[in-house]
Amino acid sequence: MVKYVVKKGRVFWPSKAMKKIAWANSEKIYKEASESPAKFWAKAANELFWFKKWHKTYEQSRLRPWNFRWFVGGKTNACYNALDIHLPEKANQTALIWIPEPEKEPDQNYTYEELHELVCKAANMLKSIGVRRGDIVTIYLPMIPELIISMLACARIGAIHSVVFSAFSSQALKTRLLDNRSRFLITADGYYRRGKLIKLKEPAEQGARGTAVEKIIVVNRARRKIRLKNNEFWWHLLMEEQPLSCPAEELDSNSVMFLLYTSGTTGKPKGIIHELGGYMVHAYLTAKLVFDLHENDVMFCTADIGWITGHSYACYGPLFNGITSIIYEGSPDWPSWKRFFSILEKYNVTVFYTAPTLIRMMVANRLERLLARFKFEKLRILGSVGEPIDEETWLWFFRHVGKSRCPIVDTWWQTEGGGVLISSLPGIGPFIPGVAGRSFPGVNHLVLDEGGRPVSVGKEGYLVQASPFAPGMLSGVWRNSKLYREKYWSQYHKYYFSGDGAYMLKGKLFRITGRVDDVIKVAGHRLSTAEIENAINKHPLVVESAVVAKLDKIKGNVPVAFVVVNKKKKNIEQDIIGLVAKEIGPIAKPHIVYVVPDLPKTRSGKIMRRVLRALMLNETVGDVSTLVNPEVIGQIERIVKV
Ligand code: WTA
Repeated sequence: MVKYVVKKGRVFWPSKAMKKIAWANSEKIYKEASESPAKFWAKAANELFWFKKWHKTYEQSRLRPWNFRWFVGGKTNACYNALDIHLPEKANQTALIWIPEPEKEPDQNYTYEELHELVCKAANMLKSIGVRRGDIVTIYLPMIPELIISMLACARIGAIHSVVFSAFSSQALKTRLLDNRSRFLITADGYYRRGKLIKLKEPAEQGARGTAVEKIIVVNRARRKIRLKNNEFWWHLLMEEQPLSCPAEELDSNSVMFLLYTSGTTGKPKGIIHELGGYMVHAYLTAKLVFDLHENDVMFCTADIGWITGHSYACYGPLFNGITSIIYEGSPDWPSWKRFFSILEKYNVTVFYTAPTLIRMMVANRLERLLARFKFEKLRILGSVGEPIDEETWLWFFRHVGKSRCPIVDTWWQTEGGGVLISSLPGIGPFIPGVAGRSFPGVNHLVLDEGGRPVSVGKEGYLVQASPFAPGMLSGVWRNSKLYREKYWSQYHKYYFSGDGAYMLKGKLFRITGRVDDVIKVAGHRLSTAEIENAINKHPLVVESAVVAKLDKIKGNVPVAFVVVNKKKKNIEQDIIGLVAKEIGPIAKPHIVYVVPDLPKTRSGKIMRRVLRALMLNETVGDVSTLVNPEVIGQIERIVKV
């Protein structure tokens, strides 16, 4: 195995100015945190508001290490910490800026006071339709302020939010609704994307059919004139009637704050459970230290709130820290990149957090000249998340967006982690292209081999987290404790298994290489090959299928499908692509569909995806002695080559 060595001259350190202002600027923080992680996190928790203080900071079962809890016995409220605590001093400061895609629509600014008022009204609105503490509210909204308002309103009254990415299909929504059994759904009539009106009410309604959903609230974002049914309500009409104040409920630290469905290795997405106290403290502190948030900071996190990054760094993290968060409805290159960069300039963005795919799009579009026209004077920190960032892209981002003066924090984490787990800190560094950095203070990662032994420095292995587990870590999988144990805790028992491969480098730095399971990151979006196969197999002519990931210059990875059919049909490839879009969403569409006579299988019937991957890449297939049908190799080879 090749040893990974950092190239000379490719290590960057914080400037003096950055060191001076940064919250974390010396080794001390790592030392203190590792001496007592519980104390370290408790100190952060104390910077937030609690109705009642916890009596135990951390507890973990010795026999069942996956049972752990933070801030036991504490009572708090995430909405109170996002809004109310800032009112005495920052009532008039901007909390949220929303930029609609159509340029003719004005941007909208909300101060902390205004957002607070809207959230209180929305919380009362939820109560008025029967939402109670502990109820699950599914939110299927585009990037509009009502999305954040709905989440905070749920948090205020102790309802559990379950946000579904608005570009997921009605079927994907249904799958989630059938699992979380929520009786309430919030959606919109439509939204704008690449200059087009995208209808949302229709897929929402379809997705809700046959589920437990009783009531639907519809935001009139696109001003469509549609008629609602008896159990459907316009957001703006319900809001008109609501009182302005609503108390924030005193909630148990260990109550469920939200569910977020994510793809794993099985054919169905799983509902990741996040508990209130731990998630809140983790999102707060990581936002504060990784993005070094100070008063007057303006953060632009481009992730959709339908994914965890948007939850933690477009909504909760910035608000817990009392700064300004910007959300944008549309596509970055629509109507032009100039518009997108103007957002950064106009609002004096100080922290810009995005995904490598978006940067690679900028590189591919040769935006250097356009970028040279922008100064981004206030920009201090750049962040990358969601997939490995290659060195060239990193350097390009550093030079052309960061003007060679802003550190890049390459943050590794997952839906399961709730917030950043591995990253360099802006005031400490180092910043190395292709290397994410160290475990966040108070968190401890290791790289192990198959047998559970640590690999030596510079070698690749499996990334795991050791106890005490970070506060933001999931507490389970909704209605599936077996899956929770098997997926994360069966490989190494006392360690949490991430599903990622990594190198441990000198100085406890991690270089992440990506998923080692059937999860595939397409343009930073997390999908599962099994889920895509499930969708394909619904086609009446498909006998079986296998989906593998193919490297892509822009998107990182794209799915490629190998399909066996029982009858040839013209354009079946297009049918299949359309089916995947319908079952999951356009982001999951296979890049290529190969119709093949059979799939390479072992005696026990296991599909050998490794062989398919090699054939697709025109590489040697290696040892195939375990195959029952070696003749397929030649056949597939011929099909792939065409
Ligand atoms: C990948 C997104 C390399 C990784 C926050 C992980 C990364 C999966 C990075 C989780 C990074 C995330 N470098 N890979 N900086 N950040 N990943 O749940 O494979 O949507 O397991 O959470 O994204 O994706 P998820």
